[in-house]
Amino acid sequence: SPPQALPHLNPLHILDEDYCGQAKCMLEKVGSWNFDIFLFDRLTNGNSLVFLTFHLLNQYGLIELFQLDMVKLRRFLVLVQEDYHNQNPYHNAVHAADVTQAMHCYLREPKLAQSLTSFDILLGLLAAATHDLDHPGVNQPFLIKTNHYLAALYRNTSVLENHHWRSAVGLLRETELFSHLPVEDSIERQLGSLILATDISRQNEYLSRFRTHLDENDLCLGHASHRHFVLQMALKCADICNPCRPWELSKQWSEKVTEEFFHQGDIEKKHKLEISPLCDSEANTIASVQIGFMTYVVEPLFAEWVRFSDTRLSQTMLGHLGLNKASWSALEPEASGSSEEGESEPGRATEEPSSRALSQGSQES
Ligand SMILES: *[C@@H]1O[C@H](CO)[C@@H](O)[C@H](O)[C@H]1NC(C)=O
Ligand SMILES: [Zn+2]
Repeated sequence: SPPQALPHLNPLHILDEDYCGQAKCMLEKVGSWNFDIFLFDRLTNGNSLVFLTFHLLNQYGLIELFQLDMVKLRRFLVLVQEDYHNQNPYHNAVHAADVTQAMHCYLREPKLAQSLTSFDILLGLLAAATHDLDHPGVNQPFLIKTNHYLAALYRNTSVLENHHWRSAVGLLRETELFSHLPVEDSIERQLGSLILATDISRQNEYLSRFRTHLDENDLCLGHASHRHFVLQMALKCADICNPCRPWELSKQWSEKVTEEFFHQGDIEKKHKLEISPLCDSEANTIASVQIGFMTYVVEPLFAEWVRFSDTRLSQTMLGHLGLNKASWSALEPEASGSSEEGESEPGRATEEPSSRALSQGSQES
């Protein structure tokens, strides 16, 4: 059967015994940080996003609570999955499924689990599943310099994120998934606000706001606006958590994202455009790209997240982050200069297992 084909089953029993019994078995551990989304995607015949999202919505009781129509929901999830580009090495439906699984792990953290409403959880999961919808596999600067219509449409601002959001809204309206709810408008707006928060170029804005809240200790999760902000931060973490996964999973993501960058670089070379940072396969390696990303993007974000939610999961993530960075450093001894600490504040959180692993890594080089 074609890779996108789904079995004609009652969606409630979408993972029935003879169809991918092993995948169903994996879903029992869907809240595990070691969840192997690549294996799950193979076991579901390339349908990881549909199955995972359906399973989570069902497990949280959201289908029943919001009286979601099974046929509409199934159609919506299939359309979402199909709108991702299979041919993108990184920004495809498996990345969306991975972010949704990470989001689920964060939603279960005590601080969130105690305060989030069912509506918050519904939005968080939907935003994760749709946050890169119809991603073209190239970045915003590329769209701007090639005069892509999306750059003009969104005036060079969060071009991709606006497109992901509007694509998600399009599918929600097309399938009329929430047309029976009075909150349809609010869903669309909040979905936008969550997806737009994944714009990495605006990370400092979100991070300094998060830092201020943590310094003042004034996050009050009884307030809807504060819960929404925490959901934004959780989605941002879920989106870039690859370096915090166990090495075997993390390494695969690193290879995929670098492949996508280098592919963009090859197009730029071919068309005699300026080659974007990180996209020149002759000037970068997987290790150098990863070490820079971890140092300047991932570590600062997770250092604050750990202050907010200092749990076993957070310590596990920091532990992997440190070990993975050390592994890449060992593969790229000459790049150890970019992995030096000191530019950022010597926060407590970053001193923990990551820097210990890091200093071990640099001693070897
Ligand atoms: C977007 O950026 C391009 C290239 O810098 C520029 O030519 C264009 O005028 C900009 N568009 C808007 C709406 O700012
Ligand atoms: Zn993403």
